[in-house]
Amino acid sequence: MSKKLLVTGDRASGDSYGIGAYIGSLKNRIECQDDYECFIFSADYHTLTTDIDNANEIGKKILELIKTQISVGVDPEKVVFYRQSKIVETFRLHTLLSMLISMSELERQPTLKEKISQGKRMTYGLVGYPVLMASDILIMRANVVPVGKDQEAHVEITKELAEKFNSMFREVLTVPEKMINPVLIGLDGKGKSGKSTGGIFFNDTSEEVKKKVMSMYTDPNRIKATDPGTVKGNPVFIYHDYFNDNLDEVKDLKERYEKGKVGDVEVKEKLFLAIERFLNPIREKRNEIEKLGDEYIFDLLETGEKRANEVAEQTMKSVDEVMKF
Ligand code: TRP
Repeated sequence: MSKKLLVTGDRASGDSYGIGAYIGSLKNRIECQDDYECFIFSADYHTLTTDIDNANEIGKKILELIKTQISVGVDPEKVVFYRQSKIVETFRLHTLLSMLISMSELERQPTLKEKISQGKRMTYGLVGYPVLMASDILIMRANVVPVGKDQEAHVEITKELAEKFNSMFREVLTVPEKMINPVLIGLDGKGKSGKSTGGIFFNDTSEEVKKKVMSMYTDPNRIKATDPGTVKGNPVFIYHDYFNDNLDEVKDLKERYEKGKVGDVEVKEKLFLAIERFLNPIREKRNEIEKLGDEYIFDLLETGEKRANEVAEQTMKSVDEVMKF
């Protein structure tokens, strides 16, 4: 049986990525790359919906995005990498889909409200963001779409649009399923690990990582090392569960923590060492990729774009046919 198709994309807005992105999306890609045919793209036009003033930086950010993915273990031999803007049929489908959704539904979207509250202009492009996203997904006839919780509503819109199109014409669009990625809690015990809360980044030095781990938020009710502590919901243990490959050590630390038989310093030092064991191969791989040069990444993208365009052209051929165009 042929593999199911997975499509996912990232806005090209980051200068660097870290363990928050790893838990929030990258890990899932590594886990899926053998079982699904994975189409992973840089959503450069989506980035423009809020960052048109910084359009000239997007190219650099796409390179960072692809290099990051490869360095953590997304295998370029297995997945198809491409840039959204190079799949021109996406934009033809986008126009068609835009006839099938009302302005009021788009204006109601929480993601739109959030961007407006951040001071972004409510452009035509920004309002249409979910329709463009639907087009990215439907043009490839994706079966599954991994996204963060914040993007869930957009996948719902995608399904509605596919169903609507199919019922108006014929069943040519695949109705996809979402796959929701987890969120890594911030070092401060709040929100989400990342830029605003200062996460741990792949390009941090060991000294920086150590400083961040040693000042992590833990159980606020525990004053002395002899006080019994709470493991559940404690960021230090959440991180141990995600990153410490020494399961016996984690079990022992949790048991002693709950009995008040271990200090925070020991728990954090062991977490620091575990995160270093996790980061070291990523740092090495990144150095290897840098040696290959940017040409290597551009070649990968061009190969991927050829493949993705074949799929997209097929989809639009069917769409034109059923619409009798
Ligand atoms: N909207 C997604 C985000 O902000 C990025 C994205 C664009 C996407 N098109 C997509 C994700 C299609 C999955 C599928 O993170």
